Amino acid sequence: MKRLLALSFLISHLSFSGVAAQEVPLVQNIFARNPTSLNGQWHYIVDVQEEGYYDYRMNPTRWGFFLNAKPQRPEDLIEYDFDKEPTLQVPGDWNTQSERLFFYEGTVWYQRYFSAQKPDQGQRTLLYFGAVNYDAHVYVNGQHVAHHIGGFTPFNADISQQLRDGENTLIVKVDNKRHKDNVPTQIFDWWNYGGITRDVLLVSVPETYVEDYSLQLEKRKEERGEKREISFALQLNQKKAGERVTLSIPELKVRETLTTNAEGRIATSIGKTGGLQLWSPDTPKRYRVEISHRGKTIVDSIGFRTIETRGKQILLNGQPIFLKGICIHEEKTDGGGRANGTRDAATLLSMAQQLGCNFVRLAHYPHNEWMVREAERRGILVWSEIPCYWTISWTNEQTYQNAQQQLTDMISRDHNRANIIIWSIANETPHSPERDQFLGRLAKYARTLDNTRLISMAMEVTSASNYKNRLHDNMHEYVDVVSFNQYVGWYRDVNDAPKMEWEVPYDKPVIVSEWGGGAKYGLHGARNQRWTEEFQENLYRENTAMLDRIDGLAGTTPWVLKDFRSPRRVLPGIQDYYNMKGVFSDRGQRKKASFVLEEWYKGK
Ligand code: GCU
Repeated sequence: MKRLLALSFLISHLSFSGVAAQEVPLVQNIFARNPTSLNGQWHYIVDVQEEGYYDYRMNPTRWGFFLNAKPQRPEDLIEYDFDKEPTLQVPGDWNTQSERLFFYEGTVWYQRYFSAQKPDQGQRTLLYFGAVNYDAHVYVNGQHVAHHIGGFTPFNADISQQLRDGENTLIVKVDNKRHKDNVPTQIFDWWNYGGITRDVLLVSVPETYVEDYSLQLEKRKEERGEKREISFALQLNQKKAGERVTLSIPELKVRETLTTNAEGRIATSIGKTGGLQLWSPDTPKRYRVEISHRGKTIVDSIGFRTIETRGKQILLNGQPIFLKGICIHEEKTDGGGRANGTRDAATLLSMAQQLGCNFVRLAHYPHNEWMVREAERRGILVWSEIPCYWTISWTNEQTYQNAQQQLTDMISRDHNRANIIIWSIANETPHSPERDQFLGRLAKYARTLDNTRLISMAMEVTSASNYKNRLHDNMHEYVDVVSFNQYVGWYRDVNDAPKMEWEVPYDKPVIVSEWGGGAKYGLHGARNQRWTEEFQENLYRENTAMLDRIDGLAGTTPWVLKDFRSPRRVLPGIQDYYNMKGVFSDRGQRKKASFVLEEWYKGK
């Protein structure tokens, strides 16, 4: 049964594409495919009215900026010139790179040249983007090759047809305008960083290549108890039978040559788990895995573990675990800007580890792959989420398809990461039958993609009177872990945490996925004085004591690791466009509350 499911997992998320003709299903572990980086300085044009895309009748024009046209004769009229424009660093957001773009939301055109060869016979060239916020149209030598929606998920296209020998032109139209039918919707409490925010890569692959693979530790019930085995599944980009693939896990003395079936698939189990060291926060063991096909070898580092729930407990490798977490936004320290790369990941995760965390909630959207892999290397468990945040257009089918695609892309990219234990499908969404229908559908879909991890979402307290807090949410049926956000001590009931009682009437583990309050680093005063470190410190003391009284609490992720930029936070001298609920300042300075949390986690 499980093996089959693994197969259906491969089928379902690989078959969904249906955008620009050249776009191909996401390629697994692209960084291990000997990529050429196209990161660097790209020219850009700010195009407020999308002059480069629409004519004056608002119809898409054929003579747009994507042609990178140059006057051929003296009388020719070309009213743009990328070569004379300033540049922006890619990957990176535009908001923190140029004062004039700090608040900018709209279209920016990116352009760069790159040299390449038309792929040889039997070869293909793929173009990959780690993420572009929000709506990206991609052109190679003036031809449209990809259109992607969603600011936090990767996509790739086969540009073999468009490539020329020698100099090529790559142009990306990036539009980060907010819209109510988008995911996220029109308002959200983080900075709407625009741009090509993650890596851009060129990859050369054989005509037939390994599109995706999955390695998971699975438990199989047998007469005499449970047997653990490693399930291996693989999908080629083409339905080709008889293709030989060698799977090697040297440390486990696994070396198997397998053959694809008519669907270009392999699905099997490796019984050799004797001596297998399981991945866990204390021992984040990852095994070198080599997958060879047609002379190309993909190397990955994969950990093996099991994750499940039993009643109100979360079991990692069969043992109950308490998730000592913190919420993190994908933002650099020292002035903000989208974080990307191992160095930024290391900075943020080291701060989390100073608190004694074994778990992070990557809010509210899929973070970059470096972050997830660095967390896996450090033994940090991960909650990964798609931005169905606040009031999404529940009845809009396009919005649903957009959310489902982001869910698919998130799981496609990271389904081999042992440290990811929870897929979250939403945050603080208002109750309604339409919302339940939308999220119920999404939760079910998530299980078809991956039935080996836990599903959750950040719910909200539904009633609170006379210090009795209740959580009643129809979505409890669809999730494995019941999670909710609460702000006792900040948005309500200051200093009443000690009196609070909690009722979560579901026989499932509970995670309090947000709580906390703001403070300005270095601002000191009475503990009932808002914005002082003492106020936040006291709030943390009272909340941690309150959390200890919540039945079934299996973990928590206070809001938030560090102060982060938000256009919704405008209090001068205190917020200045920062949400100040970090236990660290934006510059990584520890506030008093961080020590309360660290102390509390020592006891967990
Ligand atoms: C909400 C929300 C966060 C927000 C936080 C806050 O719960 O999920 O994105 O930043 O509260 O108000 O600070």
